[in-house]
Amino acid sequence: MIKPSRVGHATFETPDVDKALAYWIEVNGLKLASREKNRAYLTSKTGLLTLALEQGREEDLKRISFEVSPKADFADLAKALAADGVKSEVRSDPVPGIGKVLAFADPKGTVIELFQEWNYLGSHHQVLGAGPLKLGHIAYVVPDPHAMADFYCRVLGFKVSDWIEDFFVFLRCNPDHHTVNFIRGAKAKMHHIAFEMKDFAHIQQACELLAVRKIPINWGPVRHGPGHNVAIYHRNFDDQNVELYIELDQMKDEELGYFDPRPWHHDFPQRPKVWDRKVAPALWGPTPMPDFQRSHG
Ligand SMILES: [Fe+2]
Repeated sequence: MIKPSRVGHATFETPDVDKALAYWIEVNGLKLASREKNRAYLTSKTGLLTLALEQGREEDLKRISFEVSPKADFADLAKALAADGVKSEVRSDPVPGIGKVLAFADPKGTVIELFQEWNYLGSHHQVLGAGPLKLGHIAYVVPDPHAMADFYCRVLGFKVSDWIEDFFVFLRCNPDHHTVNFIRGAKAKMHHIAFEMKDFAHIQQACELLAVRKIPINWGPVRHGPGHNVAIYHRNFDDQNVELYIELDQMKDEELGYFDPRPWHHDFPQRPKVWDRKVAPALWGPTPMPDFQRSHG
């Protein structure tokens, strides 16, 4: 089975690469790694490839990459995918810091790129903007979250961390409570993309920066139920919801099957479960603004 160890980078299509870059560099705080005519690559301040931007017709998330074991054999993975009815191909596009990838589409059409070989693109970058530690998770609206959870668990080896009733599922591929999540909605699209921050002071710094840039916080600060992350949300220059978060629950030992105990938990121990929709969105903090809710579609 494919067992990703972490999410790598997200590839967005955007009608205006320069406008998108202004957000990701000056507000979000990523570092430009390289720029071609219709394409740009950005790293986190640690030098991890985090985003690719491609000139295109619409603002849309096209691809996400996941790192797999250096021992995995792409031919074996391709065979396993084929057994599940998934067609894949090895691609060797020149992406900075990444070797060849095994590419295939998930059921909603997002291309998944598995990679093994990678390099840091520099390190200790000085960045403008918020300056997150890493890309943390990507949430999608999908018509059938059960079908998506089944695909990601059965084919990709993810595990279910939590459900909110039967309409919102959170999946993990490493100790992080979730790396992808799926909420039910009419049409498949990205719901939000989330970046890990260092601590609450770092989140506050981001709040000040967003205020100076006149970018409204459309939800938060809030502590969620599932994952227990403290989060703020805003929209980027392509109208996509971006989350900045801290303190996401960690499943440090799969055998034990509970999240590392934290004082803000209400279950002892905190195991994967089904949450009530009234409790789940906010253990404390405000309810989301209508501008955030637009992402539900
Ligand atoms: Fe999130």
